[in-house]
Parts: sequence; C-alpha cells; structure tokens
Amino acid sequence: MKRILKRFLPYIVEYKLYYLLVLVGVLLNVASTAGTAYIMKPMMDDMFIAREAKMMYIIPLSLIGIYALKSLGRYMQSVSMAYIGTHIVTRFREMLLEKIVLLDMAFLYLNRSGELMSRITNDVGRLQYFVANLLPELARESLSVAALIGYVIYLDYKLAFYALVVVPAVVYPLMFVAKKLKKYSHRSQEKNADLLSRLNEVFNNIEIIKINATENLELERFDEQNWQFFRINMKSVYVGELVSPFLEISGALGIAIIIYIGGSQVYAGEMTTGEFMAFLTAVGLVFKPLKNLGQIYSKIQDALAASERVFAILDIKNKIEDGSQELKEDIRRIEYKDVVLEYEGKNLLDGISLSIKKGEHIAVVGDSGGGKSTLVQLLLRYYDPKSGCICINDEDIRNFKLASLKSHISFVTQRIYIMHDTVAANVAYGYEKRDEKRVVQALKDASAWDFVEKMGGIDAMLEEGGVNLSGGQRQRIAIARAIYKHASLLLFDEATAALDNESEAKIQTALKKYTKDKISITIAHRLSTIKDADRILFLRNGKIIANGSFDELLQNSDAFKKLAGKFRQDS
Ligand SMILES: Nc1ncnc2c1ncn2[C@@H]1O[C@H](COP(=O)(O)OP(=O)(O)O)[C@@H](O)[C@H]1O
Ligand SMILES: [Mg+2]
Repeated sequence: MKRILKRFLPYIVEYKLYYLLVLVGVLLNVASTAGTAYIMKPMMDDMFIAREAKMMYIIPLSLIGIYALKSLGRYMQSVSMAYIGTHIVTRFREMLLEKIVLLDMAFLYLNRSGELMSRITNDVGRLQYFVANLLPELARESLSVAALIGYVIYLDYKLAFYALVVVPAVVYPLMFVAKKLKKYSHRSQEKNADLLSRLNEVFNNIEIIKINATENLELERFDEQNWQFFRINMKSVYVGELVSPFLEISGALGIAIIIYIGGSQVYAGEMTTGEFMAFLTAVGLVFKPLKNLGQIYSKIQDALAASERVFAILDIKNKIEDGSQELKEDIRRIEYKDVVLEYEGKNLLDGISLSIKKGEHIAVVGDSGGGKSTLVQLLLRYYDPKSGCICINDEDIRNFKLASLKSHISFVTQRIYIMHDTVAANVAYGYEKRDEKRVVQALKDASAWDFVEKMGGIDAMLEEGGVNLSGGQRQRIAIARAIYKHASLLLFDEATAALDNESEAKIQTALKKYTKDKISITIAHRLSTIKDADRILFLRNGKIIANGSFDELLQNSDAFKKLAGKFRQDS
C-alpha cells in the first residue's frame, strides 16, 4: 500500500494547486459543520432561555452565513476534485494505450485484448476515483472527525469520554468488514476483466460460433461467468451494507449514554440546556464522518488494487528495445547469422544462416508450423533472437530505430487487417498526405481496381476487418497497401492464398515492376511463385533444410521433390 501511494506522489504534487483548493473547500466545509453544532449553545441559552432579543436576528443570519460558506466550500471542493480526476484519468488512458501499443508483438499475442481493455477502462476509472474522490474525502472526513471530537472534548471531557467509549467498539468490527470487502472487490475486478475478455472473444469469433451452432454453448459459458460476477458483487453488498446499520445502532448507543448521563447533569444544574444540546449535536455529527471513513477505507483498498494493476502495465519492460540509428538507405543486403529463436524452451528457429542481396526474390516453403512466418517476422523485430543476429546493410537490426527500419519494409501478413475507413486511407495507411494517383495505381497493380471502382472508387468505405469484402478482395487491398509503400524489402506471407491463379499471375507480373531491384521474400504456396523465385528456402522444424533454385532443389532434395509434387496437384 505504501509502495503504491508513493507512485501517486508525483501526481499529487503535480496537482497541488487543485488539491489546495480542495483543502480550502474541505476546511470551509468542516468549519461550518462545527459551526452548526456551536450555534446550538447560543440558540438555546441566549435566545430561548435568556431570551435575548437581538439573538432572534443574529442566530438565523449566522446560520445563513454558515450554510453559504459550506456551499462555497463544497463547490470549490467538487470542482477541483472533478478537475483532478478527469484530468488524471484522461492522461492515464493515454499513457496505458501508448505503453500497450508500443509493447512487443510477443506480449500482444499473449495478452487477451479484453483484459487490456479492462485495464484502460475499469481500472483507470477506479484510479480516478481514488485521486479525485477518495483522497479528498479521506482528508475531509478525518478533519471533520478530528474537529468534532476536539470540540466535544472541549465542551465536556468527562462526558466526551462516555460518548466515545463506543468508538473502539465500532472501529474493530469495521476493520474486519473492510478486509472482507477488499477481498471481494479484488475478485469482482478480476471477474469483470474475465467478462470483458469473454465478450471480446465471442464477438471476434462470432462466425465460427454461428457455423458450429454453438451459440447456446457460448451463452452458457458467458452466463456462468456473468452470474459468478453477480454473486461476488452481491457478497460485497451483503457485507458492505451491514456497515451502515451497525454504525447507526452504535451511534444510537452513544447518544443514549449521553442523554442519560448528560440529562442527569442538566437536572442537577451542572450543565446548561444549551451546553447539553451543543454537545449532543456535536456527538451526533461525529458518527457520520466516522461511518464515511469506514467506507472510504474499504474503497481505498479497492482502488489501490486497481491502481496496482495499472502500474503493473506501465512497468512492463518492452522486450524489444528501440535502436538509435536511422536506416537511411534502401535495404540492399540481409543476413541471418546463426539465428536461434526460443519460445518456452522450444526452438522455433534453430541456427538459421542466410544471406540475401538486392534484386533477389526468395520463396520460402515448408510444412505449416515450420517457422516460415516467424522467419520473416524477425525482420520487423516481432521477437529478438536468443542467439545469433540479423544484419541489414551489415548493421545489426537491433541498432536501427524501429520506425525507420519499418519504413523500408512492406509486409503483407497472413491475417489481413482492414480498418474502418476509406479504400484510400487503407491503401495509404500511415501516410499523412496521400497521393491519390499512386493509390489508384497500387490498386490497379494489385488487381483491385475493378472491384474498388464498382464500390465507388477510392473514397468508398471499408468495414472493420473488411467484412464487406471477399477474402480475395481483402488480400488485394493488403497487397495494394504494400505496393503503395514503395519499400525496398517486400514480405508476403501467403498473401495470395485466397486468389485464383489468374489474378495471382496478374499480380505477380505487376509486382515484378516494383521488386526489380529490391528484395522480396514470399512465403509461397503455389508452384508458379516458387518457380519464378531466384532461390527457394525450405524450412522444417525451424531449420533450413534446403536452399537453392527450383531445379537445384528438385535434383538435390527428396523432401522438396515430395513437396513440389503436392504443389502440382494443388494448382
Ligand atoms: N506468438 C507466438 N507465440 C508462441 N508460439 C508461436 C507464436 N507464433 C507461432 N508460434 C509457434 O511457432 C511455430 C512456427 O510458427 P509459424 O512461423 O507461424 O509457422 P508457419 O508460418 O511456417 O506455419 C509454430 O510451432 C507455432 O506454434
Ligand atoms: Mg505462417
């Protein structure tokens, strides 16, 4: 708890002006609360009992004054609190998303997006509540309690002692309840993240759910978690709502004691009625902030748990460290030097050595799961090798600034990504200014122009995930995106798998124009592509088991001969 509070310190310092305003507001508030108790004494003794006429004006006017100050204080407090809270939540959201999108692909593959979303929405919301509400409330209620107890003791310390004996009897059970509440809130927040992940999963997999008619199965799974969430929330309500009645009764007990003892003192003439009334009012007023403190305590636990999760994300170390060198020239040489990539004790790539130079077109073939995608992903530093290194233009790629490295690479991934935006924005993705002529040309070269034209041209809207396109159309948009970039290294990961032979051939012809003096690496699934390649890499279990031209491999590698035979049947 101390550790996490320390994390907040810089922010609290940063918002010190607003916290100061909150504090002034709180003080006004507290002072006027004590004032309402204080005013009981002159009202009773001077106005009612001594019947001083001027008190008829002074008391009501003071009361108006007190409440005006109280309102002013409250306004200052609320506005400043809202400012701190809204400001900080906006910043943390920004910081979190920035952190998350900059993290390495390995992390992003592994973490459920629903859970990350829960961090950015729910947990950040709780953090906001902590800095904006709980901290000031904590200050306000503690000050109120201190001021009122001080006042009660000042009025009559003996009587105060009797009234306050109930306090420890109240505090201990409350601590117990707070502990329980903390546990429940922790579980509830976890369940909430699970629920979001589940929803995300359902929506992302809706097609497969429909195909398999597993709607009911998914509903059942969702319902189970949903009701678990319900039960855990209700548990915390059952316990949490005990606090109020418990305090109410304890309060009544305290008041009863005072009426009994104080009343006898008034009868005995040891105390004026006014003093008694002021005392009673002050004691009555102590219980409310005391009760609030109990609730604040448990809420703070809850908020700190959430904050801890937020900070945990901010603390994650990016496995991929950005380099410092700018990659200025085109990529003209790529070298893998004995690259080993390990994941969970298994070598995904095992001793890859390879050299590719400008103008070469490489085809990568192999069994699925053999490491083909991983091999090319390394060039964009999805992962860094465990040993060995990859050089571009004789420089370790880890030394390059990631953005500058990526600016030289076009990558059509196995899974196609389409944004909810216009065709033009999708093709010229990442460019602030786009060249419309170049967009159209890229679409033409990717054999996409025909259908784009029918959709209404480059300003036609595409849906998220490209749901309003066919698989082949989506791939063509992705290829157009790669062409538009005019990069010196082009990577295609089964980029034409959904296309018919004819469109594929057309695209290959068009691509030749762009890749003439560039490097292209194509993960291939078609005989025509590999026949065209200058060199073929055959990957199996993370190792290159053959490397050479089509004819060479046919002669030298039985495994390749077998594979080529399969290709022949395919196309
Ligand atoms: N993000 C990942 N995390 C862990 N393992 C992965 C990841 N991506 C792929 N793999 C594993 O790496 C191996 C190679 O995968 P991949 O390069 O995609 O093969 P290919 O493209 O040849 O089908 C597979 O065994 C796969 O299970
Ligand atoms: Mg693959």
